[in-house]
Amino acid sequence: MSNPRGEFSSRFGFLMAATGSAVGLGNIWGFPTNAASNGGGAFLVAYLVLAFVLAYPALMAELIIGRHAKANAVSALSGVAANSGTARIGATVGVVGMITVTLILSFYAIVSGWMLSFMSASISDLVRFDSLSDWLTTGSTSRDSLFTLLFYFLTISVVVAGVKNGIEKWASRLMPSLYLLLIILIVYVLTLDGALEGVRMYLVPDFARIADPGLLLGAMGQAFFSLSLGVGTMLIYGSYVSKRENLPALGGMVTLLDISVAVLAGMLILPAMSVAAFNGIEIYDEQGGLVAGPALIVSVLPALFERMGDAGILVSLAFFTLMVIACLTSSISMLEVPVSYVVEQHGASRKKASVALGLLAALISLVIVFNFDLLFGFVVSLTTEYSQPLLGFFIAIFVGWIWRRDQLLEEVQQGNPDCENTLFWRIWPWYIRFVCPVIIVAVYVQMIL
Ligand code: TRP
Repeated sequence: MSNPRGEFSSRFGFLMAATGSAVGLGNIWGFPTNAASNGGGAFLVAYLVLAFVLAYPALMAELIIGRHAKANAVSALSGVAANSGTARIGATVGVVGMITVTLILSFYAIVSGWMLSFMSASISDLVRFDSLSDWLTTGSTSRDSLFTLLFYFLTISVVVAGVKNGIEKWASRLMPSLYLLLIILIVYVLTLDGALEGVRMYLVPDFARIADPGLLLGAMGQAFFSLSLGVGTMLIYGSYVSKRENLPALGGMVTLLDISVAVLAGMLILPAMSVAAFNGIEIYDEQGGLVAGPALIVSVLPALFERMGDAGILVSLAFFTLMVIACLTSSISMLEVPVSYVVEQHGASRKKASVALGLLAALISLVIVFNFDLLFGFVVSLTTEYSQPLLGFFIAIFVGWIWRRDQLLEEVQQGNPDCENTLFWRIWPWYIRFVCPVIIVAVYVQMIL
């Protein structure tokens, strides 16, 4: 434990890093398509409600344990345990979280590699290297392996540099650029013919759908994935927050910023799809649903950009740059989970740990790339649908039932001395004890059935 722990140097730095983790493929890709196929505005309403009643309390649980323990997820969770039995469960939750987040990184990096290769294709289009562009935009194991590895190179480079000089510095540069690019793209797409149909599809709620259990499940999974919950990511980021900060307020801001990007991304993706339809591009699949998943970003949108001529090259470059930024600020938060553990528990240097663990995840990614049809969907669903909610459940139990209430209050009071009299303290402890575990179990049971 000779390595001094990192700490974010400012409130802004933490906000950018945590928002950077939260904002990713889940917001820009997952949320809009989920909304489009689940009753538009009705999904939006369900998502907003769940984000505040479930995801925000769960986020707070992770941030509070993390800042209290000032340690990685494994030591933090076993540290708040009351006896050796619960300590063992805590350590297991931490370890399973670490394995889960490594697997999430391994599929996330593949998709991020696609974003990187499409971004490169726009640059190659600018200089008219047509055959290179074709290779870059056509799926192949050679392209996917190369760009997945390149993406790992970027991720590892940031994590090696540490909390302040890597994660905080890059998130603080990249996240404001992401907001700016997003706004520019929305304004541009909304001026195109056919965009209004997408806005209508997105914002007019089909309330007949709100009672649909599939919609609620989707909205809850979305909220969980989007706030990077359950696997120790937010716990680790919480552990780098200074004791002077008011955690409930910071967590609230992260939630709001995350939601705002998802909602804004809906204003980009759905109008872009209806513009594509207006231009004769197929946006429905064989089952009559909207094209979602990989095909949306790597076929529908590129087809649209291509029809825009030269302007399309710049729009495409802006869009895929936006995606790469969103991916990178998320992937670094994933790699940080096992890295912080190995550095703190086993005394490894940050550099060695980041490179070794990054390469391990890269190896898993390559196995998935070469067995894509067999493994990709399986790993996504195993980690995000099963493992994440289950781990979230255990974290809620730890904070709600196992950790001593007076210690919990003492931690929240740091940076927020008046906490005991706030609305947060009146509501949140009950939420984390009862509401969160019950909702998660209900969702989990439904998924298994
Ligand atoms: N929240 C990110 C997104 O929306 C992805 C992410 C980052 C994540 N860290 C995570 C997901 C940890 C699950 C667990 O794309």
